[in-house]
Amino acid sequence: MTTPRHTYGRGRLAAAFGGLAAATLAVAIAVPAAAAGSTLQAAASESGRYFGTAIAASRLGDGTYTSIANREFNMITAENEMKMDATEPSRGQFSYSSGDRIVNWARQNGKQVRGHALAWHSQQPGWMQNLSGTDLRNAMLNHVTQVASYYKGKIYAWDVVNEAFADGSSGGRRDSNLQRTGNDWIEAAFRAARAADPNAKLCYNDYNTDNWSHAKTQGVYTMVRDFKSRGVPIDCVGFQAHFNSGNPVPSNYHTTLQNFADLGVDVQITELDIEGSGSSQAQQYQGVVQACLAVARCTGITVWGVRDSDSWRASGTPLLFDGSGNKKAAYTSVLNQLNAGGTTNPNPNPTTPVPTPTTTTPPPTGGGSCTATYSEGQKWGDRFNGTVTIRANGNISGWTSTVTVRSPQKIIATWSGSPSWDSSGNVMTMRPSGSGALSSGQTTSFGFTVQHNGTWTWPSVTCAAS
Ligand code: XIL
Repeated sequence: MTTPRHTYGRGRLAAAFGGLAAATLAVAIAVPAAAAGSTLQAAASESGRYFGTAIAASRLGDGTYTSIANREFNMITAENEMKMDATEPSRGQFSYSSGDRIVNWARQNGKQVRGHALAWHSQQPGWMQNLSGTDLRNAMLNHVTQVASYYKGKIYAWDVVNEAFADGSSGGRRDSNLQRTGNDWIEAAFRAARAADPNAKLCYNDYNTDNWSHAKTQGVYTMVRDFKSRGVPIDCVGFQAHFNSGNPVPSNYHTTLQNFADLGVDVQITELDIEGSGSSQAQQYQGVVQACLAVARCTGITVWGVRDSDSWRASGTPLLFDGSGNKKAAYTSVLNQLNAGGTTNPNPNPTTPVPTPTTTTPPPTGGGSCTATYSEGQKWGDRFNGTVTIRANGNISGWTSTVTVRSPQKIIATWSGSPSWDSSGNVMTMRPSGSGALSSGQTTSFGFTVQHNGTWTWPSVTCAAS
């Protein structure tokens, strides 16, 4: 099992704080420490990560299914509904109704969506299976362009190309009709996807790429390194992570994720399921979560279904909820591991835009003032998170907040605002990312991570209204 460096459990944290003076203790009581997340999404969010699931449109009428999915997960992948056969059943005739059911359910419930998958040798519509050469290449690129354009602005990350490498010892590409159109088909797909939806992260996604010493892992790594060096637009690598006794979680999983991240891409665990039961299954799940949390650019984990009975491998009972929707031991170990913390994702996922409200409030006319209040977030051995809440007293049309940290502290990550810095690096000026208008009594907040370098003093914060 992976034992990543740089992780600090709550036990060690408590020990680190044991020597603090009584005066500090009084503050700690007055401001409750960040509560442990009680759902997978809440626990993952503490370190800026998401926790997702695959959803089948056909199950959206099942209340047990949707209530678990809504409560626990904040990233949604369509299990089959956005694949090539589903979205282009006849050449040039696109069908988005099933995909839309999932995307709409996700957005209505404030969740983000991973797009899966634009180009793949499997689950191709019949008409495409029979194409080859330039005709197939053009059909594939048109498919990528059409589907990515249709969902533009609604997708956090696309699996642009799925499963293009061969299993076994070759480390090379899988033979397929797409591969036979030329080795550059993958980069052509990525370029088409970028042109169609410039804001979606673009991922290469595969399985059996978890063990660092496997040829397939090395083959994908070499491709990603080459893409980065030549400016092919790739942002992330997805690790499907379908494990069972014949393909267990490798002990070097953390190394694999870190090495890919070091190429300058995000890594995501995209289709996690682990066949088994009881404590052995729970331990393997824990190892996967621990490996992701040890890698700052491992931005989230998606499990491939909700209950065991929903799984494509149902007989292997590989998920976190049993067929009745009860939490399994694996669920508890995942939740506890998420709550134990780890590195902070330096680019936390923006929250999903909620549907535009139908009632509009008049924009504030300005003239009011604002207050800034600091509250503590999660803490690790080497860093802590903080949140600043801005409150408008009277209507304001904008705000500027300063956050001053005491040297040798450094702010190493921020979210929900546009930061700028003074020459010392100790004073951050935060401005709203969009409009800063607030009506009287309204609040907004932004956050940041401080590398404390041994100094635990709270930052001082100010707010100026405009
Ligand atoms: C699976 C679905 O879960 C099944 O319902 C479907 O019959 C076949 O595909 N790798 C992938 C996923 O990228 O799309 C696959 O999903 C599982 C393996």
